[in-house]
Amino acid sequence: MSIKSVVLICGGGNGAHCLAGLASLKSNIESRVLTLYSDEAERWTAKLESGLLITVRNDDGSESLIQTKPSMVTNVPKKAASGAHYIFIVVPAFAHTNYLDAINPYMGKNTVIVGLPGQAGFEFECVDLLGNKAKHCTIVTFESLPWACRLIEFGKNVEILGIKDTLGASVLKDSTVHPPIMYGKWSQWNGKPLSEKPLFYQGIDERQAELLSGVSDECLATAKAIKKKVPGVDMSDVIHVFDWYLKHYSSHITNKSNLMMVMRTNKAYDGLVHPMKAVEPGKYVPDFTNRYIREDVSMGIVPIKGIAELAGISTPYLDEVITWCQGKLNKEFLVGNKLTGKDLKDTRAPQKYGYNKLEDLFTGNYSI
Ligand code: NAI
Repeated sequence: MSIKSVVLICGGGNGAHCLAGLASLKSNIESRVLTLYSDEAERWTAKLESGLLITVRNDDGSESLIQTKPSMVTNVPKKAASGAHYIFIVVPAFAHTNYLDAINPYMGKNTVIVGLPGQAGFEFECVDLLGNKAKHCTIVTFESLPWACRLIEFGKNVEILGIKDTLGASVLKDSTVHPPIMYGKWSQWNGKPLSEKPLFYQGIDERQAELLSGVSDECLATAKAIKKKVPGVDMSDVIHVFDWYLKHYSSHITNKSNLMMVMRTNKAYDGLVHPMKAVEPGKYVPDFTNRYIREDVSMGIVPIKGIAELAGISTPYLDEVITWCQGKLNKEFLVGNKLTGKDLKDTRAPQKYGYNKLEDLFTGNYSI
């Protein structure tokens, strides 16, 4: 008799559908879904029997159809988490805490918890919420989803638009692209509604590319400082955002001459537009409440700024982007160029968890 691994996927969105569907294809995996959001569990369960279709758009323009069926979809944490060997949290980062709190009582020792993606500070949040139990678990955080994917019909059909060639798991991430792109695009906006939604990645200009590159250089400088201060730490996954695109999306990109062109010609980004809201039919303004700012600042670039601060690296690009974003969020994280704002408690900066020295991040010593 073969022993099945129980894989729990937390979430009910695009990524959760893909992972639940793909995991179910393996005969040695029992794939369960826990969704706590609204009536998603009920709606998905109603469609479960007829199965889930994954439509994969291949690079050559053809499509592959994968018919699959997760074992269970539920909103009951006990039913979902009991006996799970691997737990993938596949929701926007603001919902991580909900799921970790819900499954914590039912998780066994030696569980592997995966943030897919984790967003910066996922490990700190897990250790903080799971307490002693975290010591007996493996916590993994991925920098992104392995796919660009979209739901076609909830519970029924999900589409994979592009598959990344590789995916890194690291503490310092380069997937910090959303806030600099938002800042670069909208900081000079005249406030007038637009008649169409601008392309997000494929519409970037030289200024946005410079911001992305600047932030990326600051991440690299931080990684270098960490390596110097904490010998033996492997920072090789921290690479420049340009190299990241070449590594992860190589087969999707037609012009590899510079960062701007790499993003403008990445086929996996076809049709992806800025988060906008309609103010009247056919008239759009940017949606600054979208997670590209709300989530990717407090759980993205602010934790990275926090690590850079502990490493003694100055970060003018990050500071410029955070300063504009915190204004849009009506929050105060940064005061001048220091993370001493009154709303730091709403972020995953290491300082919030009591890490005050760089070395403490690696030894686990912290004091609040
Ligand atoms: P999604 O937008 O499909 O997630 C929505 C789901 O999150 C909902 O269906 C619900 O299950 C859950 N949710 C929302 N609000 C909730 C709440 N208040 N409480 C509990 N659950 C709630 O997200 P998607 O597309 O699956 O992405 C997951 C993460 O991966 C996001 O951080 C996204 O930025 C990132 N990502 C997504 C990519 C994509 O192509 N879809 C590509 C790369 C990264």
